[in-house]
Amino acid sequence: MSLVNHTPQWQALQQHWDELRTARITDFFAADPQRATAMRLSVAGLYLDYSKNLITPTTLKLLAALADAVDLSGWTQRMFNGAAINNTEDRAVLHIALRNRSNRPIVVDGADVMPLINQVLARMEHFVGRVRTGDWLGHTGRRISDVVNIGIGGSNLGPKMVCAALAPYQRDDLRVHFVSNIDGTHLVETLARLNPETTLFIVASKTFTTQETMTNATSARAWLLAALGDQTAVARHFVAVSTNAERVTAFGIDPNNMFGFWDWVGGRYSLWSAIGLPIALAVGFDRFVELLEGAHAMDEHFRTADIAHNMPALLGLLGVWYANFAGARTHAVLPYDQSLRFLAAYLQQGDMESNGKRVTRDGVAVEYSTGPVVWGEPGTDGQHAFYQLIHQGTQLIPADFIGAIHSHNELRDHHPKFMANFFAQTEALMRGRTTAEALAELQASGVAEAQAQLLAPHRTFPGNRPTNSILMQRLTPQTLGALIALYEHRIFTQGIIWGVNSFDQWGVELGKQLASVILDELQTGKLTAPHDPSTRALLEYFIQQRRA
Ligand code: F6P
Repeated sequence: MSLVNHTPQWQALQQHWDELRTARITDFFAADPQRATAMRLSVAGLYLDYSKNLITPTTLKLLAALADAVDLSGWTQRMFNGAAINNTEDRAVLHIALRNRSNRPIVVDGADVMPLINQVLARMEHFVGRVRTGDWLGHTGRRISDVVNIGIGGSNLGPKMVCAALAPYQRDDLRVHFVSNIDGTHLVETLARLNPETTLFIVASKTFTTQETMTNATSARAWLLAALGDQTAVARHFVAVSTNAERVTAFGIDPNNMFGFWDWVGGRYSLWSAIGLPIALAVGFDRFVELLEGAHAMDEHFRTADIAHNMPALLGLLGVWYANFAGARTHAVLPYDQSLRFLAAYLQQGDMESNGKRVTRDGVAVEYSTGPVVWGEPGTDGQHAFYQLIHQGTQLIPADFIGAIHSHNELRDHHPKFMANFFAQTEALMRGRTTAEALAELQASGVAEAQAQLLAPHRTFPGNRPTNSILMQRLTPQTLGALIALYEHRIFTQGIIWGVNSFDQWGVELGKQLASVILDELQTGKLTAPHDPSTRALLEYFIQQRRA
Protein backbone atom coordinates (compact mmCIF):
# COMPACT_ATOMS: atom_id res chain seq x y z
CA MET A 1 0.00 0.00 0.00
CA SER A 2 1.37 3.42 -0.86
CA LEU A 3 1.63 5.98 1.90
CA VAL A 4 -1.50 8.00 2.53
CA ASN A 5 0.31 11.31 2.05
CA HIS A 6 0.84 10.39 -1.61
CA THR A 7 -2.88 10.19 -2.29
CA PRO A 8 -4.63 13.03 -4.14
CA GLN A 9 -7.07 13.26 -1.18
CA TRP A 10 -4.20 14.07 1.20
CA GLN A 11 -2.78 16.60 -1.20
CA ALA A 12 -6.21 18.22 -1.62
CA LEU A 13 -6.32 18.60 2.18
CA GLN A 14 -2.83 20.08 2.16
CA GLN A 15 -3.92 22.66 -0.35
CA HIS A 16 -7.12 23.30 1.58
CA TRP A 17 -5.09 23.93 4.75
CA ASP A 18 -2.99 26.47 2.86
CA GLU A 19 -6.22 28.32 2.09
CA LEU A 20 -7.55 28.05 5.65
CA ARG A 21 -4.42 28.69 7.67
CA THR A 22 -5.28 32.35 8.25
CA ALA A 23 -9.05 31.84 8.51
CA ARG A 24 -10.95 32.56 11.73
CA ILE A 25 -13.52 30.22 13.22
CA THR A 26 -15.55 33.23 14.32
CA ASP A 27 -15.77 34.36 10.68
CA PHE A 28 -17.19 30.96 9.75
CA PHE A 29 -19.97 31.50 12.30
CA ALA A 30 -20.62 35.01 10.97
CA ALA A 31 -20.90 33.69 7.41
CA ASP A 32 -23.12 30.74 8.28
CA PRO A 33 -25.85 31.22 10.88
CA GLN A 34 -26.65 27.48 10.69
CA ARG A 35 -23.13 26.37 11.55
CA ALA A 36 -23.78 25.58 15.23
CA THR A 37 -26.78 23.43 14.44
CA ALA A 38 -25.18 21.79 11.41
CA MET A 39 -22.05 20.74 13.25
CA ARG A 40 -23.50 18.76 16.10
CA LEU A 41 -24.48 15.18 16.62
CA SER A 42 -26.27 13.12 19.27
CA VAL A 43 -25.31 9.48 19.62
CA ALA A 44 -25.81 6.92 22.41
CA GLY A 45 -26.51 9.60 25.03
CA LEU A 46 -23.59 11.81 23.96
CA TYR A 47 -24.11 15.25 22.44
CA LEU A 48 -21.18 16.53 20.40
CA ASP A 49 -20.71 20.11 19.23
CA TYR A 50 -17.81 20.24 16.79
CA SER A 51 -18.58 23.64 15.32
CA LYS A 52 -15.71 25.36 17.18
CA ASN A 53 -13.16 23.72 14.89
CA LEU A 54 -11.05 25.31 12.22
CA ILE A 55 -13.05 23.62 9.49
CA THR A 56 -15.60 24.36 6.82
CA PRO A 57 -18.07 21.97 5.18
CA THR A 58 -15.41 21.56 2.46
CA THR A 59 -12.88 20.38 5.06
CA LEU A 60 -15.32 17.72 6.19
CA LYS A 61 -15.90 16.56 2.61
CA LEU A 62 -12.17 16.35 1.95
CA LEU A 63 -11.58 14.46 5.21
CA ALA A 64 -14.38 12.05 4.34
CA ALA A 65 -12.78 11.54 0.93
CA LEU A 66 -9.50 10.71 2.68
CA ALA A 67 -11.32 8.17 4.84
CA ASP A 68 -12.80 6.62 1.70
CA ALA A 69 -9.40 6.57 0.01
CA VAL A 70 -7.99 4.39 2.79
CA ASP A 71 -11.19 2.33 2.95
CA LEU A 72 -12.08 3.20 6.53
CA SER A 73 -15.50 1.59 6.25
CA GLY A 74 -13.98 -1.61 4.79
CA TRP A 75 -11.50 -1.84 7.68
CA THR A 76 -14.31 -1.18 10.13
CA GLN A 77 -16.33 -4.06 8.70
CA ARG A 78 -13.27 -6.29 8.78
CA MET A 79 -12.70 -5.50 12.47
CA PHE A 80 -16.36 -6.14 13.33
CA ASN A 81 -16.34 -9.39 11.34
CA GLY A 82 -13.35 -10.87 13.13
CA ALA A 83 -10.66 -10.55 10.42
CA ALA A 84 -7.07 -10.73 11.68
CA ILE A 85 -6.43 -7.00 11.24
CA ASN A 86 -3.67 -7.06 13.88
CA ASN A 87 -1.30 -8.33 11.20
CA THR A 88 1.96 -8.36 13.18
CA GLU A 89 0.45 -10.72 15.76
CA ASP A 90 -1.94 -12.38 13.30
CA ARG A 91 -4.92 -11.71 15.56
CA ALA A 92 -8.48 -10.52 15.23
CA VAL A 93 -9.40 -7.34 17.13
CA LEU A 94 -12.63 -8.05 18.90
CA HIS A 95 -13.18 -5.89 21.94
CA ILE A 96 -16.42 -5.00 20.16
CA ALA A 97 -17.52 -8.65 20.56
CA LEU A 98 -17.17 -8.41 24.33
CA ARG A 99 -20.01 -5.88 24.39
CA ASN A 100 -21.99 -7.26 21.47
CA ARG A 101 -25.29 -7.21 23.33
CA SER A 102 -27.15 -8.18 20.15
CA ASN A 103 -25.34 -11.52 20.21
CA ARG A 104 -24.88 -11.28 16.44
CA PRO A 105 -22.52 -14.18 15.65
CA ILE A 106 -18.89 -13.09 15.25
CA VAL A 107 -16.74 -15.80 13.77
CA VAL A 108 -13.02 -16.31 14.38
CA ASP A 109 -11.27 -19.35 12.89
CA GLY A 110 -14.61 -20.83 11.93
CA ALA A 111 -16.23 -20.56 15.38
CA ASP A 112 -18.66 -18.01 16.81
CA VAL A 113 -16.98 -16.29 19.78
CA MET A 114 -20.24 -15.13 21.38
CA PRO A 115 -20.94 -18.35 23.37
CA LEU A 116 -17.44 -18.14 24.91
CA ILE A 117 -17.98 -14.52 25.87
CA ASN A 118 -21.39 -15.24 27.34
CA GLN A 119 -20.02 -18.13 29.37
CA VAL A 120 -17.38 -15.93 31.01
CA LEU A 121 -19.96 -13.21 31.63
CA ALA A 122 -22.19 -15.78 33.34
CA ARG A 123 -19.30 -16.93 35.54
CA MET A 124 -18.49 -13.31 36.39
CA GLU A 125 -22.12 -12.66 37.30
CA HIS A 126 -22.20 -15.67 39.60
CA PHE A 127 -18.94 -14.76 41.32
CA VAL A 128 -19.82 -11.07 41.68
CA GLY A 129 -23.18 -12.03 43.15
CA ARG A 130 -21.50 -14.29 45.70
CA VAL A 131 -18.99 -11.67 46.80
CA ARG A 132 -21.51 -8.84 46.96
CA THR A 133 -24.09 -10.83 48.92
CA GLY A 134 -21.53 -12.19 51.35
CA ASP A 135 -21.94 -15.77 50.11
CA TRP A 136 -18.24 -15.86 49.19
CA LEU A 137 -16.31 -15.83 52.43
CA GLY A 138 -12.65 -15.46 53.23
CA HIS A 139 -10.58 -18.26 54.74
CA THR A 140 -11.63 -17.43 58.29
CA GLY A 141 -15.30 -17.16 57.40
CA ARG A 142 -15.49 -13.38 57.13
CA ARG A 143 -17.11 -11.36 54.36
CA ILE A 144 -14.97 -9.62 51.76
CA SER A 145 -14.70 -5.89 52.43
CA ASP A 146 -11.85 -4.93 50.10
CA VAL A 147 -10.84 -6.02 46.62
CA VAL A 148 -7.30 -5.31 45.39
CA ASN A 149 -6.77 -5.48 41.64
CA ILE A 150 -3.14 -6.22 40.85
CA GLY A 151 -2.39 -5.43 37.22
CA ILE A 152 -0.70 -2.85 35.04
CA GLY A 153 -1.32 -1.07 31.74
CA GLY A 154 -4.54 -2.33 30.21
CA SER A 155 -5.06 -4.63 33.19
CA ASN A 156 -5.22 -1.60 35.47
CA LEU A 157 -5.96 1.71 33.76
CA GLY A 158 -9.38 0.86 32.33
CA PRO A 159 -10.95 -0.71 35.44
CA LYS A 160 -9.35 1.96 37.65
CA MET A 161 -10.71 4.77 35.48
CA VAL A 162 -14.19 3.24 35.30
CA CYS A 163 -14.37 2.49 39.04
CA ALA A 164 -13.52 6.13 39.82
CA ALA A 165 -16.01 7.34 37.22
CA LEU A 166 -18.80 5.20 38.64
CA ALA A 167 -18.08 5.89 42.32
CA PRO A 168 -21.66 7.09 42.91
CA TYR A 169 -22.84 3.55 42.11
CA GLN A 170 -20.58 1.88 44.66
CA ARG A 171 -21.30 0.61 48.14
CA ASP A 172 -19.32 1.67 51.17
CA ASP A 173 -18.86 -1.88 52.43
CA LEU A 174 -17.01 -3.20 49.36
CA ARG A 175 -14.06 -1.05 48.41
CA VAL A 176 -11.89 -1.62 45.32
CA HIS A 177 -8.20 -0.70 45.22
CA PHE A 178 -5.67 -0.81 42.40
CA VAL A 179 -2.01 -1.70 42.68
CA SER A 180 0.04 -1.42 39.51
CA ASN A 181 3.49 0.01 40.14
CA ILE A 182 6.33 -2.38 41.00
CA ASP A 183 7.51 0.27 43.45
CA GLY A 184 6.88 -1.53 46.74
CA THR A 185 5.35 1.66 48.08
CA HIS A 186 2.23 1.11 46.03
CA LEU A 187 1.49 -2.30 47.52
CA VAL A 188 2.68 -1.47 51.03
CA GLU A 189 0.59 1.70 51.27
CA THR A 190 -2.48 -0.07 49.90
CA LEU A 191 -2.22 -3.11 52.17
CA ALA A 192 -1.45 -1.03 55.25
CA ARG A 193 -5.12 -0.15 55.53
CA LEU A 194 -6.49 -3.64 54.82
CA ASN A 195 -7.31 -6.76 56.78
CA PRO A 196 -6.06 -10.02 55.16
CA GLU A 197 -9.11 -11.88 56.43
CA THR A 198 -11.47 -9.70 54.40
CA THR A 199 -9.32 -8.89 51.36
CA LEU A 200 -9.73 -10.46 47.95
CA PHE A 201 -6.99 -10.11 45.33
CA ILE A 202 -7.62 -10.13 41.61
CA VAL A 203 -4.40 -10.84 39.73
CA ALA A 204 -5.14 -9.35 36.33
CA SER A 205 -2.69 -10.03 33.54
CA LYS A 206 -3.37 -11.07 30.00
CA THR A 207 -0.03 -12.85 29.75
CA PHE A 208 0.50 -13.62 33.45
CA THR A 209 4.18 -12.93 32.86
CA THR A 210 4.32 -9.17 33.43
CA GLN A 211 7.10 -8.48 35.92
CA GLU A 212 5.29 -5.75 37.85
CA THR A 213 2.11 -7.75 38.30
CA MET A 214 3.77 -11.04 39.16
CA THR A 215 6.07 -9.36 41.68
CA ASN A 216 3.17 -7.55 43.37
CA ALA A 217 1.03 -10.70 43.33
CA THR A 218 3.81 -12.75 44.92
CA SER A 219 4.28 -10.16 47.67
CA ALA A 220 0.52 -9.94 48.22
CA ARG A 221 0.35 -13.72 48.60
CA ALA A 222 3.19 -13.59 51.13
CA TRP A 223 1.31 -10.86 53.07
CA LEU A 224 -1.81 -13.00 53.14
CA LEU A 225 -0.01 -16.18 54.17
CA ALA A 226 1.96 -14.40 56.86
CA ALA A 227 -1.34 -13.42 58.45
CA LEU A 228 -3.43 -16.50 57.81
CA GLY A 229 -0.64 -19.06 57.95
CA ASP A 230 -2.34 -21.62 55.75
CA GLN A 231 -1.63 -22.26 52.06
CA THR A 232 -5.26 -23.19 51.41
CA ALA A 233 -6.24 -19.58 52.18
CA VAL A 234 -4.99 -18.58 48.73
CA ALA A 235 -8.01 -20.21 47.08
CA ARG A 236 -10.41 -17.99 49.08
CA HIS A 237 -8.45 -14.78 48.62
CA PHE A 238 -6.97 -14.90 45.11
CA VAL A 239 -8.67 -14.99 41.74
CA ALA A 240 -7.05 -14.44 38.37
CA VAL A 241 -8.03 -12.83 35.10
CA SER A 242 -5.83 -14.01 32.26
CA THR A 243 -5.50 -15.76 28.94
CA ASN A 244 -2.77 -18.00 30.39
CA ALA A 245 -4.33 -20.85 32.41
CA GLU A 246 -1.03 -22.70 32.76
CA ARG A 247 0.75 -19.84 34.48
CA VAL A 248 -2.27 -19.06 36.66
CA THR A 249 -2.22 -22.62 37.97
CA ALA A 250 1.56 -22.52 38.44
CA PHE A 251 1.11 -19.41 40.60
CA GLY A 252 -1.16 -21.43 42.87
CA ILE A 253 -4.52 -20.00 41.93
CA ASP A 254 -7.33 -22.52 41.60
CA PRO A 255 -8.29 -22.71 37.86
CA ASN A 256 -11.92 -22.58 39.04
CA ASN A 257 -11.10 -19.07 40.25
CA MET A 258 -9.73 -17.97 36.90
CA PHE A 259 -11.72 -15.83 34.48
CA GLY A 260 -10.44 -16.11 30.94
CA PHE A 261 -10.29 -13.94 27.91
CA TRP A 262 -8.70 -14.32 24.52
CA ASP A 263 -5.74 -13.19 22.45
CA TRP A 264 -8.07 -11.14 20.23
CA VAL A 265 -8.64 -8.75 23.13
CA GLY A 266 -5.84 -6.17 23.29
CA GLY A 267 -4.74 -5.23 26.82
CA ARG A 268 -5.72 -1.57 26.40
CA TYR A 269 -9.12 -2.62 25.02
CA SER A 270 -9.83 -5.23 27.67
CA LEU A 271 -11.94 -3.53 30.33
CA TRP A 272 -15.01 -5.04 28.67
CA SER A 273 -13.72 -8.56 29.30
CA ALA A 274 -13.14 -10.31 32.62
CA ILE A 275 -10.52 -7.60 33.18
CA GLY A 276 -13.65 -5.61 34.11
CA LEU A 277 -14.20 -7.90 37.13
CA PRO A 278 -13.25 -5.17 39.65
CA ILE A 279 -15.78 -2.88 37.97
CA ALA A 280 -18.52 -5.49 38.29
CA LEU A 281 -17.57 -6.11 41.92
CA ALA A 282 -17.61 -2.39 42.63
CA VAL A 283 -20.88 -1.41 40.97
CA GLY A 284 -22.67 -4.73 40.53
CA PHE A 285 -22.97 -6.98 37.50
CA ASP A 286 -26.09 -5.25 36.13
CA ARG A 287 -24.27 -1.91 36.03
CA PHE A 288 -21.34 -3.59 34.29
CA VAL A 289 -23.77 -4.83 31.65
CA GLU A 290 -25.08 -1.27 31.28
CA LEU A 291 -21.51 -0.15 30.60
CA LEU A 292 -21.29 -2.81 27.87
CA GLU A 293 -24.63 -1.65 26.49
CA GLY A 294 -23.46 1.95 26.22
CA ALA A 295 -20.36 0.84 24.33
CA HIS A 296 -22.42 -1.43 22.09
CA ALA A 297 -24.70 1.48 21.14
CA MET A 298 -21.62 3.46 20.07
CA ASP A 299 -20.27 0.41 18.21
CA GLU A 300 -23.46 0.03 16.22
CA HIS A 301 -23.38 3.70 15.34
CA PHE A 302 -19.73 3.53 14.27
CA ARG A 303 -20.34 0.36 12.25
CA THR A 304 -23.36 1.68 10.37
CA ALA A 305 -23.38 5.50 10.16
CA ASP A 306 -21.95 7.25 7.12
CA ILE A 307 -18.78 9.18 7.75
CA ALA A 308 -20.41 12.61 7.65
CA HIS A 309 -22.61 11.63 10.61
CA ASN A 310 -20.27 9.25 12.35
CA MET A 311 -19.15 10.63 15.70
CA PRO A 312 -15.97 8.58 16.25
CA ALA A 313 -14.94 8.88 12.60
CA LEU A 314 -15.46 12.65 12.66
CA LEU A 315 -13.42 13.08 15.82
CA GLY A 316 -10.68 10.87 14.37
CA LEU A 317 -10.59 12.85 11.15
CA LEU A 318 -10.48 16.15 13.03
CA GLY A 319 -7.46 14.82 14.90
CA VAL A 320 -5.79 13.97 11.58
CA TRP A 321 -6.61 17.46 10.30
CA TYR A 322 -4.81 19.09 13.21
CA ALA A 323 -1.93 16.61 13.50
CA ASN A 324 -1.05 16.35 9.84
CA PHE A 325 -2.08 19.65 8.32
CA ALA A 326 -2.23 22.23 11.13
CA GLY A 327 0.92 20.92 12.87
CA ALA A 328 -0.59 20.01 16.26
CA ARG A 329 1.58 17.63 18.28
CA THR A 330 -0.65 17.02 21.25
CA HIS A 331 -4.31 16.53 22.05
CA ALA A 332 -5.87 17.63 25.34
CA VAL A 333 -8.70 15.72 27.00
CA LEU A 334 -10.37 17.98 29.56
CA PRO A 335 -13.22 16.38 31.50
CA TYR A 336 -15.33 18.76 33.56
CA ASP A 337 -16.08 15.89 35.90
CA GLN A 338 -13.91 15.02 38.85
CA SER A 339 -14.85 11.38 38.59
CA LEU A 340 -13.23 11.26 35.13
CA ARG A 341 -9.90 12.17 36.70
CA PHE A 342 -8.20 9.07 35.28
CA LEU A 343 -9.65 9.43 31.78
CA ALA A 344 -6.60 11.14 30.29
CA ALA A 345 -4.23 8.58 31.80
CA TYR A 346 -6.40 5.79 30.44
CA LEU A 347 -6.48 7.38 26.99
CA GLN A 348 -2.74 7.88 27.07
CA GLN A 349 -2.32 4.14 26.88
CA GLY A 350 -5.33 3.71 24.60
CA ASP A 351 -4.12 6.25 22.07
CA MET A 352 -0.35 6.40 22.42
CA GLU A 353 0.25 2.65 22.69
CA SER A 354 -2.08 2.17 19.71
CA ASN A 355 -0.95 4.89 17.34
CA GLY A 356 2.54 5.74 18.58
CA LYS A 357 3.97 3.98 15.53
CA ARG A 358 6.50 4.96 12.89
CA VAL A 359 5.98 2.29 10.25
CA THR A 360 2.85 1.23 8.41
CA ARG A 361 1.25 -2.19 8.67
CA ASP A 362 3.59 -3.21 5.82
CA GLY A 363 6.68 -1.97 7.66
CA VAL A 364 7.23 1.14 5.53
CA ALA A 365 8.45 4.23 7.40
CA VAL A 366 5.72 6.89 7.51
CA GLU A 367 6.41 10.39 6.23
CA TYR A 368 3.93 12.18 8.49
CA SER A 369 3.04 12.52 12.15
CA THR A 370 1.09 9.68 13.70
CA GLY A 371 -0.32 9.51 17.23
CA PRO A 372 -0.20 12.78 19.16
CA VAL A 373 0.73 13.11 22.81
CA VAL A 374 -2.55 12.80 24.71
CA TRP A 375 -2.83 14.57 28.02
CA GLY A 376 -5.22 16.40 30.30
CA GLU A 377 -6.64 16.93 33.74
CA PRO A 378 -10.15 17.63 34.91
CA GLY A 379 -11.37 21.20 34.79
CA THR A 380 -11.14 23.46 36.72
CA ASP A 381 -7.81 22.21 38.13
CA GLY A 382 -6.35 22.34 34.64
CA GLN A 383 -7.46 25.96 34.23
CA HIS A 384 -5.28 26.96 37.15
CA ALA A 385 -2.31 25.02 35.81
CA PHE A 386 -1.77 24.65 32.06
CA TYR A 387 -4.60 26.49 30.28
CA GLN A 388 -2.33 29.53 30.04
CA LEU A 389 -0.31 27.69 27.41
CA ILE A 390 -3.40 26.55 25.51
CA HIS A 391 -4.67 30.16 25.39
CA GLN A 392 -1.50 32.10 24.75
CA GLY A 393 1.32 29.63 24.05
CA THR A 394 2.86 29.13 20.65
CA GLN A 395 1.45 25.65 20.03
CA LEU A 396 -1.89 24.70 18.59
CA ILE A 397 -3.54 22.31 21.06
CA PRO A 398 -6.89 20.89 19.99
CA ALA A 399 -8.93 20.01 23.06
CA ASP A 400 -11.98 17.93 23.94
CA PHE A 401 -14.17 19.33 26.70
CA ILE A 402 -16.37 16.69 28.34
CA GLY A 403 -19.13 17.44 30.84
CA ALA A 404 -22.53 16.45 32.21
CA ILE A 405 -25.80 18.37 32.41
CA HIS A 406 -26.44 16.93 35.88
CA SER A 407 -23.88 16.09 38.51
CA HIS A 408 -24.13 13.14 40.87
CA ASN A 409 -23.30 15.67 43.56
CA GLU A 410 -25.48 18.74 43.06
CA LEU A 411 -23.98 20.61 45.97
CA ARG A 412 -25.43 24.14 46.24
CA ASP A 413 -24.28 26.06 43.12
CA HIS A 414 -21.16 24.01 42.38
CA HIS A 415 -22.32 22.47 39.15
CA PRO A 416 -23.49 25.63 37.35
CA LYS A 417 -20.26 27.31 38.40
CA PHE A 418 -18.27 24.34 37.14
CA MET A 419 -20.02 24.21 33.79
CA ALA A 420 -19.89 28.00 33.39
CA ASN A 421 -16.14 27.50 33.27
CA PHE A 422 -16.48 24.74 30.66
CA PHE A 423 -18.49 26.95 28.31
CA ALA A 424 -16.45 30.08 29.03
CA GLN A 425 -13.19 28.31 28.23
CA THR A 426 -14.36 26.96 24.88
CA GLU A 427 -15.73 30.40 23.96
CA ALA A 428 -12.57 32.19 25.05
CA LEU A 429 -10.35 29.72 23.24
CA MET A 430 -12.22 30.35 20.02
CA ARG A 431 -12.90 34.08 20.30
CA GLY A 432 -9.70 35.27 21.89
CA ARG A 433 -9.19 39.01 22.44
CA THR A 434 -7.53 41.36 19.99
CA THR A 435 -4.84 43.83 21.04
CA ALA A 436 -7.24 46.68 20.19
CA GLU A 437 -9.86 45.18 22.52
CA ALA A 438 -7.29 44.65 25.25
CA LEU A 439 -6.10 48.25 24.87
CA ALA A 440 -9.61 49.66 24.92
CA GLU A 441 -10.41 47.69 28.08
CA LEU A 442 -7.27 48.97 29.80
CA GLN A 443 -7.97 52.56 28.78
CA ALA A 444 -11.58 52.29 29.92
CA SER A 445 -10.43 51.15 33.32
CA GLY A 446 -8.23 54.22 33.66
CA VAL A 447 -4.79 52.66 33.17
CA ALA A 448 -2.20 55.22 32.08
CA GLU A 449 -1.53 55.20 28.35
CA ALA A 450 2.10 53.99 28.52
CA GLN A 451 1.16 51.19 30.87
CA ALA A 452 -1.83 50.27 28.71
CA GLN A 453 0.42 50.05 25.63
CA LEU A 454 2.82 47.80 27.58
CA LEU A 455 0.12 45.51 28.92
CA ALA A 456 -2.05 45.20 25.82
CA PRO A 457 0.09 42.54 24.03
CA HIS A 458 0.19 40.48 27.24
CA ARG A 459 -3.57 40.68 27.51
CA THR A 460 -4.10 39.69 23.88
CA PHE A 461 -5.47 36.22 23.15
CA PRO A 462 -5.02 34.94 19.61
CA GLY A 463 -8.16 32.75 19.86
CA ASN A 464 -8.96 30.40 16.99
CA ARG A 465 -8.04 27.49 19.28
CA PRO A 466 -10.19 24.51 18.31
CA THR A 467 -12.33 22.55 20.76
CA ASN A 468 -14.94 19.83 20.75
CA SER A 469 -17.66 19.91 23.38
CA ILE A 470 -19.10 16.59 24.52
CA LEU A 471 -22.08 16.64 26.87
CA MET A 472 -24.14 13.91 28.46
CA GLN A 473 -27.15 14.05 30.74
CA ARG A 474 -25.28 12.39 33.57
CA LEU A 475 -22.22 10.19 33.85
CA THR A 476 -23.85 6.76 34.04
CA PRO A 477 -22.55 3.30 33.16
CA GLN A 478 -24.22 3.67 29.73
CA THR A 479 -22.88 7.11 28.88
CA LEU A 480 -19.44 6.16 30.16
CA GLY A 481 -19.46 3.01 28.01
CA ALA A 482 -20.40 5.09 24.98
CA LEU A 483 -17.72 7.67 25.76
CA ILE A 484 -14.94 5.08 26.03
CA ALA A 485 -16.06 3.35 22.83
CA LEU A 486 -16.15 6.75 21.13
CA TYR A 487 -12.46 7.24 21.90
CA GLU A 488 -11.59 3.66 20.96
CA HIS A 489 -13.09 4.13 17.51
CA ARG A 490 -11.51 7.56 17.17
CA ILE A 491 -8.15 5.84 17.73
CA PHE A 492 -9.08 3.14 15.20
CA THR A 493 -10.06 5.76 12.59
CA GLN A 494 -6.73 7.54 12.96
CA GLY A 495 -4.75 4.29 12.79
CA ILE A 496 -6.50 3.40 9.54
CA ILE A 497 -5.81 6.83 8.03
CA TRP A 498 -2.13 6.59 8.99
CA GLY A 499 -1.93 2.98 7.80
CA VAL A 500 -0.45 1.75 11.09
CA ASN A 501 -1.33 -1.32 13.13
CA SER A 502 -3.07 0.17 16.17
CA PHE A 503 -3.22 -3.17 17.95
CA ASP A 504 0.36 -4.24 18.61
CA GLN A 505 2.86 -2.63 21.03
CA TRP A 506 6.37 -3.69 20.08
CA GLY A 507 7.71 -0.40 21.40
CA VAL A 508 7.40 -1.55 25.00
CA GLU A 509 9.68 -4.57 24.49
CA LEU A 510 13.24 -3.21 24.27
CA GLY A 511 13.19 -1.50 27.66
CA LYS A 512 11.74 -4.66 29.26
CA GLN A 513 14.55 -6.80 27.78
CA LEU A 514 17.28 -4.46 28.98
CA ALA A 515 15.68 -4.24 32.43
CA SER A 516 15.96 -7.99 32.89
CA VAL A 517 19.69 -7.90 32.07
CA ILE A 518 20.23 -4.95 34.40
CA LEU A 519 18.24 -6.59 37.20
CA ASP A 520 20.78 -9.45 37.22
CA GLU A 521 23.59 -6.93 37.36
CA LEU A 522 22.02 -5.02 40.25
CA GLN A 523 21.48 -8.23 42.16
CA THR A 524 24.97 -9.64 41.62
CA GLY A 525 26.73 -6.28 41.70
CA LYS A 526 28.64 -7.22 38.52
CA LEU A 527 28.18 -5.42 35.23
CA THR A 528 28.35 -8.03 32.49
CA ALA A 529 26.46 -6.47 29.60
CA PRO A 530 27.91 -3.89 27.22
CA HIS A 531 26.40 -0.58 28.38
CA ASP A 532 26.93 2.93 27.07
CA PRO A 533 29.25 5.00 29.30
CA SER A 534 26.43 6.99 30.88
CA THR A 535 24.38 3.94 31.86
CA ARG A 536 27.50 2.12 33.07
CA ALA A 537 28.45 5.02 35.33
CA LEU A 538 24.91 5.26 36.69
CA LEU A 539 24.81 1.54 37.44
CA GLU A 540 28.19 1.64 39.15
CA TYR A 541 27.08 4.61 41.25
CA PHE A 542 23.80 2.90 42.21
CA ILE A 543 25.49 -0.40 43.14
CA GLN A 544 28.18 1.36 45.14
CA GLN A 545 25.70 3.60 46.98
CA ARG A 546 23.43 0.66 47.81
CA ARG A 547 26.42 -1.19 49.27
CA ALA A 548 27.48 1.84 51.28
O1 F6P B 1 2.86 -2.11 28.48
C1 F6P B 1 2.79 -3.20 27.65
C2 F6P B 1 1.65 -4.11 27.94
O2 F6P B 1 1.80 -5.26 27.18
C3 F6P B 1 0.28 -3.48 27.69
O3 F6P B 1 -0.10 -3.51 26.38
C4 F6P B 1 -0.57 -4.27 28.59
O4 F6P B 1 -1.79 -3.63 28.81
C5 F6P B 1 0.30 -4.34 29.82
O5 F6P B 1 1.60 -4.48 29.30
C6 F6P B 1 -0.02 -5.42 30.79
O6 F6P B 1 0.08 -6.70 30.24
P1 F6P B 1 -0.54 -7.96 30.94
O7 F6P B 1 -2.01 -7.77 31.03
O8 F6P B 1 -0.18 -9.12 30.06
O9 F6P B 1 0.07 -8.08 32.30
